[in-house]
Amino acid sequence: MSKIENDLKDADSYCMFSLYYQGLVKSRGHFENQADIVRTLAHRFSSKEVRILDAACGTGDVLALLANEFLSISGLDGSPEMLKYALSNKLLEGVPLTCCRWNNLDSFFSRTGKYDLIYLLGNSIAHTENLSSFIEILGSILVNGLSKNGVLAFDMRDWVWDQEKRHLIQPNRPIGVEKTLESITVDRSEIAVTETCTYDPERQYVKYKIIREDRAVECTLSYLMMDVQAAKKFIYQIGFSSVDMPSSIKPKYPIIIARKA
Ligand SMILES: C[S@@+](CC[C@H](N)C(=O)[O-])C[C@H]1O[C@@H](n2cnc3c(N)ncnc32)[C@H](O)[C@@H]1O
Repeated sequence: MSKIENDLKDADSYCMFSLYYQGLVKSRGHFENQADIVRTLAHRFSSKEVRILDAACGTGDVLALLANEFLSISGLDGSPEMLKYALSNKLLEGVPLTCCRWNNLDSFFSRTGKYDLIYLLGNSIAHTENLSSFIEILGSILVNGLSKNGVLAFDMRDWVWDQEKRHLIQPNRPIGVEKTLESITVDRSEIAVTETCTYDPERQYVKYKIIREDRAVECTLSYLMMDVQAAKKFIYQIGFSSVDMPSSIKPKYPIIIARKA
């Protein structure tokens, strides 16, 4: 499968999943934690007029938490269905929100100009197909997306090496077992959700089954696995400079912060 086809596949999975995304994620404190990270980076590395881009803004919940604090925030996402929630959020009125897949970042940046801080949080960049598409996205952000001294931040899952399987896995997530998650309420309907996690040597696959009024739909999201040290090596190889992690940042997941020198 080609790179673009696979990128499309993962952004497209969110088209269906978008209906349940906020219900599944909101109660985990994940949006607040991400907003704290962005706030800290914006204050630490940039001036007051910092231009900020959420390059995987999804439903826009993180941007909404920042909307009153920064003059220039923008979002993009490859799933029009995820973006629909951002576009209908009153807190984001006037905030530029664009439907764009990462393979089109160069043309996006040529229209919008450069940013001082670009982030992809919520384990988003792992949706890319493989190492070369990961490097292309970062290269595009470095060359065309960031202003001089601009900062990139992205997070990853806390993958660990499994000696027996001979590949990375996510600790504490049962493999091949259908696990029932907390039920969620959407449009006043109670919805049961299960997930089943499997792997191939490069990717994790999480199949969600969503059961609503006795009808079940399935949707699989997949993630490229890479350990943090390997990801750091690649970003420095393509020309990013390292940045010391501000001690006030308390990420829930490993986070990589790098600067365009
Ligand atoms: C895990 S969600 C995170 C959303 C948001 N950052 C959050 O934390 O709630 C990942 C997002 O990446 C987007 N995405 C996946 N593949 C993409 C691609 N090729 N181009 C642009 N966005 C993509 C999905 O549409 C989805 O909204």
